[in-house]
Amino acid sequence: MTGSKRKMSGDEPQLGEAPAKHSADGPQKTRREKGDAYYRELFQTEPDFRDLARRRPDFAAFIKAKGQLDFTDPAAVMQLTKTLLDVNFDLRIELPADRLCPPVPNRHNYILWLKDLMDTTSYDQPGRGLCGIDIGTGASCIYSLLGCAQRPWSFISTDIDEKSLSYAAKNVKLNHLESRITVVARKKTDPLVCVDVIADSTQVGFVMTNPPFYESEEELWTLAKKKSRPPYSACTGAPVEMVCEGGEVAFVGRILTESLQLRDRVQWYTSMLGKVSSLEVLVERLRKEGIDNYAVTEFIQGNKTRRWAIAWSFAPMRPAEHVARGMQAVPWRKILPQTVEMDVVTSKPGEAGMLATNIDSLMQSLDLASWTWDKPRLQGIGRAREKVWGRAWRRRKQRGETIIQGACGVSVTCTFGFSITLRIGLAEAVVVCRWLEGHDFPTFESFNGFLKSRLAAKPTSQAAAKEAPES
Ligand SMILES: C[S@@+](CC[C@H](N)C(=O)[O-])C[C@H]1O[C@@H](n2cnc3c(N)ncnc32)[C@H](O)[C@@H]1O
Repeated sequence: MTGSKRKMSGDEPQLGEAPAKHSADGPQKTRREKGDAYYRELFQTEPDFRDLARRRPDFAAFIKAKGQLDFTDPAAVMQLTKTLLDVNFDLRIELPADRLCPPVPNRHNYILWLKDLMDTTSYDQPGRGLCGIDIGTGASCIYSLLGCAQRPWSFISTDIDEKSLSYAAKNVKLNHLESRITVVARKKTDPLVCVDVIADSTQVGFVMTNPPFYESEEELWTLAKKKSRPPYSACTGAPVEMVCEGGEVAFVGRILTESLQLRDRVQWYTSMLGKVSSLEVLVERLRKEGIDNYAVTEFIQGNKTRRWAIAWSFAPMRPAEHVARGMQAVPWRKILPQTVEMDVVTSKPGEAGMLATNIDSLMQSLDLASWTWDKPRLQGIGRAREKVWGRAWRRRKQRGETIIQGACGVSVTCTFGFSITLRIGLAEAVVVCRWLEGHDFPTFESFNGFLKSRLAAKPTSQAAAKEAPES
């Protein structure tokens, strides 16, 4: 991640609980008030160790004269994790010396992406309450804690390792989150997606996991040696946490197999991955299973660490472009899912008013299941049961074979959902169509073609209404 250097002030209020303080610039905002913007900016640059040391004496004890931290010292690494969680999220944790100590920026990246994934695949306002399953929560319980710190989410957090489970439960208690995080012990042979311990009426928003990465203990040892790290320490994790037969591909493959049965019981199945090769294999499997709605991304932390993530869904809501296609480099184009955003028409900024009127009239003229135009935001959202802009629909309508669809709620099954946004810049106004819902890419393309042909002709608003629909 890149960005400008952000220094921590040292007296940030606690997770929205403390009253707003006043400064020369007026009241300072609490973290909750700052919301997503605050969390997005975190760790855009490396943490400032001297600053952290000034603010936390227990961290200062590990800082060398030149302000450096010894990353080969497991105790120093553990203190860094504790301090970052405390300063940035108001979270406290206890960890045993022989279990994985999670690097906070890396875990935070996954939560940021997950928030965007969930926000952009719902017609609700961003930030809805959700229940998630954190598979292999570890001793830290880090994903569940980070998720609860930022969103009104609740978690079922599983593991198979007794020691990790007992620390995870302790960490939940330390943060008074017992009502939102339930730590559940699982057996190696149990299903990974533990819907069996969740009431049928509970809608599961997502499954998340940082799977055991290595295929063998040997691989774990070799890596620890290469990095001159003591084996089985907080830096490397214990074999029970880090090794599984077949490595991460097998672990996520098991989740995929279970998801083929569970389908919509969970809206999004997701996983972090340590190897880009695993991503390629898993995308191949998704395609083979006919799963068209998926997302891939990479997390780049500093100049060294790269991780990847994958998500798939059987439900029709499609994530935003930056969420679903989060890998820029050309070689990865082959694994990306279909695009969900297209520029339809470009015009002069001065013509934006007429363009907005035309968009609204054109959509009103169609037999959409719903259409709402937000005038101040220059954005409309529509849903269609079928291709109501096409010739086939018009012919059927002429023959009296169609049912005119009035306004209806999101519970109605629609094959296609979209938004149209008018973005006005200094040089041009661009009409952008975003595919929100559905499984059929040709339908999205056909709708874009229709929009283009109607809006590019720059008709008056009345003419646009009369001409629709088309092929
Ligand atoms: C790489 S660690 C991740 C720990 C933590 N989530 C994190 O990101 O730091 C993988 C975790 O999965 C757990 N695990 C392995 N097999 C499991 C299974 N079948 N069900 C649940 N958890 C499992 C391990 O005990 C370990 O805690």
